[in-house]
Amino acid sequence: MTTMQKITPMSFRKAKRAGPRGLPLVGSLFQMRKDPLKFFTGISREYGDVVPVKIGFETIYLINHPDHLKRIFQDNRDNYVRSKYYAQLSPIIGDGLFTLEGKAWRRQRKAAQPAVSGPNLVNMTGVMVKVVREMIGRLRDYEKNDTPLEISKEAFHFKLTIVMRSLFNADLDRETFEKVLTALTVILKEIEKRVWEMFSPPLWLPSRRIRKLQAAINTMGQIIDGIVENRLDSKVFHNDLLDMLIRAEKIYGWDQTSLRSIRDQVISIAIAGHETGAVALCWLTYELSKNPAIAGKIRQEADAVFGDKDPDFNSFQKLKYTHQVFKEILRLYPPLWTVSRQTVSADVLGQHKLPKGAIVMLSPYVMHRNPRFWNNPEVFDPDRFLPKQEAKRHKHAYFPFGGGPHLCLGNRFGTLEGVMSLAMLCQKFDFEVCPGQKLEPVPMTTLRPSGRMFIKVRKGDETRRRLAA
Ligand code: HEM
Repeated sequence: MTTMQKITPMSFRKAKRAGPRGLPLVGSLFQMRKDPLKFFTGISREYGDVVPVKIGFETIYLINHPDHLKRIFQDNRDNYVRSKYYAQLSPIIGDGLFTLEGKAWRRQRKAAQPAVSGPNLVNMTGVMVKVVREMIGRLRDYEKNDTPLEISKEAFHFKLTIVMRSLFNADLDRETFEKVLTALTVILKEIEKRVWEMFSPPLWLPSRRIRKLQAAINTMGQIIDGIVENRLDSKVFHNDLLDMLIRAEKIYGWDQTSLRSIRDQVISIAIAGHETGAVALCWLTYELSKNPAIAGKIRQEADAVFGDKDPDFNSFQKLKYTHQVFKEILRLYPPLWTVSRQTVSADVLGQHKLPKGAIVMLSPYVMHRNPRFWNNPEVFDPDRFLPKQEAKRHKHAYFPFGGGPHLCLGNRFGTLEGVMSLAMLCQKFDFEVCPGQKLEPVPMTTLRPSGRMFIKVRKGDETRRRLAA
């Protein structure tokens, strides 16, 4: 279907009916809430390329064709700004890159971009490798003692360390980490609730839920303020992201709002930067546990590319198979399972007229599992990212990092550290998910595993022996 088909009154009427009817007043709210992933995947297969879904008082349009994604992210990008849901997060995570739009967003994006690209990215490789080596040291103890590792906790600790050290030159002790991770879990749960609620409680309400949230916001604020104030006092220049944010703030004129502004920016980036990578790592260990031959191929590649030396940026570029595995995990379990935009003025997508202010839902999870664009979409198969397979596919059928002006700021950083750490960990270990756990992706803002996830860490050689036998 092309993006600019002529609309007749009849086709528009048909298109308006081309979605689930739901209940009067609330629409599909309750059905959707029961299991959002199943609900949206189901309607993507049942209805057309643009599915209007009434949820509470709102009609949102689920976009189901890569041609339309191309129009939204690329050809008519100025007409699709962040939906109003992002701004609703400001009182919780502040005015950072994740919540802002327009001039204020552009200013922050310009300040942060150089820190995560070009030579700065290359220079961060050493820090990342050091953090992975420390993780390997911890995993060795679990392997030797044959004790289960709670990967759903360790992964967050690991990725937050990478982000904090690489971008902010900050080292948090274990106790502070626990505080940050607990606070973030409360914040992310609250965000998810607010996105789908018809009425959210105001933040001044003295309820248990809001008190818990406020405590989490305060904890995050205090910890980040501490890091920023230390930097302002230290006078040592690191040329990292924190220095760049401080410099940009000074260029625009330092005043009493500056500290708050930097705190908000750091919080947005710290959340976006570690949560996504941690979720990906949990699902990687899960899939590799089921597919030891794939883990074995990663190990072989790591041995061939960097052997017993520390990998560098050059090695990263040679880790082709490991990169395919990383891409495949982001296909099957895209950490940010959905994003949304809002039309500035009316637009036409195929047979569908979107009114001014329409909210469009762009879900990598739903698109990546659509059998119209992916063969056997439920199967974990890194070979679908072989260059010749990729060339056959619609470019916009895969978008784990979003697209358009709000394309993930850390897409290259996240890929670099994701691929390198995967290769280094698989070179040393095998992962085995402990039996008896019911693990499913749960859309909690990111696609976290349902419940705590425990794995056993084995010496890598064991797989080699198992496969040979
Ligand atoms: C596997 C890792 C990652 C995935 C899958 C991912 C995914 C995404 C997606 C889908 C968006 C778009 C959100 C939207 O359109 O509304 C996004 C935005 C963003 N990401 Fe990531 N991300 C990852 C890693 C990172 C890292 C490592 C950082 C920080 C260094 C980061 C920082 C951001 C920021 C700041 C934004 C907002 C960008 C803007 O609006 O200008 N992300 N990410």
